[in-house]
Amino acid sequence: MRTPLMAGNWKMYKTPAETTAFFQDFLPMVADAKDREIVLNVPFVDIAAAVAGTAGSNVGIGGQNLHWETEGAYTGEISGPMLRAAGCHYVVIGHSERRQYFGETDATVLKRTVSALAAGLTPIVCVGELLEERESGRTNQVLQTQFDGGIAGLSPEQFAKIVIAYEPVWAIGTGKTATPEIAGETHQAIRAMVAAKFGADAAGAVRILYGGSVKPNNIKELMAVEDIDGGLVGGASLEAASFAAIVNF
Ligand code: PGA
Repeated sequence: MRTPLMAGNWKMYKTPAETTAFFQDFLPMVADAKDREIVLNVPFVDIAAAVAGTAGSNVGIGGQNLHWETEGAYTGEISGPMLRAAGCHYVVIGHSERRQYFGETDATVLKRTVSALAAGLTPIVCVGELLEERESGRTNQVLQTQFDGGIAGLSPEQFAKIVIAYEPVWAIGTGKTATPEIAGETHQAIRAMVAAKFGADAAGAVRILYGGSVKPNNIKELMAVEDIDGGLVGGASLEAASFAAIVNF
């Protein structure tokens, strides 16, 4: 009932020419994947090439961040209406690298999410704990704080339009995937937070993606878990064949 969503996150990789080449290879590999949503979140400068390269296809394009104002004197920033006008339908918000290196907080995650929704974008809102937080048994507490300070500030109507990505920070780019058991129980905990705030129907409907060293060889077991509705894929989304293998798991 929840449509699987496979989202790539290119981070700060690829030029426009490399973007064009990627989609020439990638589109034929996923042309038959009609029962799932496929998205690539690309660097701002690659959006034009990505949108042109996926025109008329079953692949959507997203940005990796946005400012919460629609326009203004914010040197170096990009707004939701700009992303939408450039052909994006999605945007990643609150990725752990933004939190770690660029001062992203739960409060700014909320502002960006509201702004993305107002622009007609589907926000992919990231949450996740650090290694020391998991090891000291604080995972659910950390996720609850991120949820309360960010996602919980949405109205029910706004919440119905977002996607959540659970990305344990210790699993990102490390080759250490959360086991399906760990991912499954954490997704369940997040769904319970959603149920407590927005009700059972909203909890049953929201898609929660898993991210952190998703690869062609582990996607199947992750997707077999009831509460995992898709993947947010970094490194393995950079090669057409490997991301296609994940999409077609
Ligand atoms: P990874 O990155 O797949 O390279 O671990 C995931 C992410 O940061 O979204």
